[in-house]
Amino acid sequence: MTDAASSPDQAGDDLAFFIDLEPQDSDMMAEVVEGLSATPKGLSPKYFYDQRGSELFDRITMVPEYYVGRTEIALLRQIGAELAADIGPDATVIEYGSGASVKIRTLLDALEKPHLYAGVDISRTFLLESCRALKADYPDLPIGAICADFTRPFEIPAELFGDHWRLAFFPGSTIGNFTPDQAVDVLKAIRSELRPDDSLLIGVDLKKDRDVLERAYDDSQGVTAAFNLNVLHVINRVLQADIPVENFSHRAVYNEDKGRVEMHLVATEAVSFTIGGHDFSLEKGETIHTENSHKYSEEEFNALAARAGFKPHRIWIDDNRLFSVRLMRAV
Ligand code: TRP
Repeated sequence: MTDAASSPDQAGDDLAFFIDLEPQDSDMMAEVVEGLSATPKGLSPKYFYDQRGSELFDRITMVPEYYVGRTEIALLRQIGAELAADIGPDATVIEYGSGASVKIRTLLDALEKPHLYAGVDISRTFLLESCRALKADYPDLPIGAICADFTRPFEIPAELFGDHWRLAFFPGSTIGNFTPDQAVDVLKAIRSELRPDDSLLIGVDLKKDRDVLERAYDDSQGVTAAFNLNVLHVINRVLQADIPVENFSHRAVYNEDKGRVEMHLVATEAVSFTIGGHDFSLEKGETIHTENSHKYSEEEFNALAARAGFKPHRIWIDDNRLFSVRLMRAV
């Protein structure tokens, strides 16, 4: 691991700092071949987000069935004053998976003169773009960027954050895209950047009716379907593969046992294709598992967060009991 804290001008603009922890690029060919050779077949969700995938995801957040984004923003707006009173002035705000642009602006607007904003993201380009966009809107707020894989613990020089209360911000129920054990590791990595009594503000989706859940991940306009199928286009393009995308369809099912919505790509007939010299075939009806979105009750998430060194402090839930925003304290 390198800890090259570059000077602001190396970042090419007026960011307070840019730290590049050089997260390892994964070997996409090896990962895809391994995932499709496994039983059952699976693909890592990280290949969803090429240009088109990112655009489709933005559109997902606007479809009527996908309540997550808009419910979380409404909650953040509603709790602004309470949050500001609880956190107090001069907080250092650290956002994990930066780029949730409306949400971070809602939070920054609510807080009393935040001391510093630091965005943490694995995508260098995306990170710098969103930090610069934020700087343009908040010229007086010092803004730093940290390129890192936050699914593993990482260290940044303590003096960068200063001696202020720290508030980690992890919106979007992204925590739900990890298995519970992985989620504990992610929360531990976040916890390692905090001191006792620092805070974590996290969006966590709640358990609810199967119908509501399945529709949220299979909208009537087919945007989520296009987003899921796009991963096959990415593989075809980047790895020069010949997957017949038209022979797959999107399926979202709520696995009640595991408390998660599972996204799959189902072969609508028997298919075969080649990737990097490896032959694959699927029977009609066989699926490729592409993503999970775990849903937690209030107590379940408290138990999970406790394993990472957080205790519940406050919880806000919308009137329809769709989504929760939680403020937790580092123990
Ligand atoms: N964090 C989001 C969620 O679980 C991500 C997401 C929304 C997603 N819709 C999706 C991931 C469709 C894959 C496919 O709600």
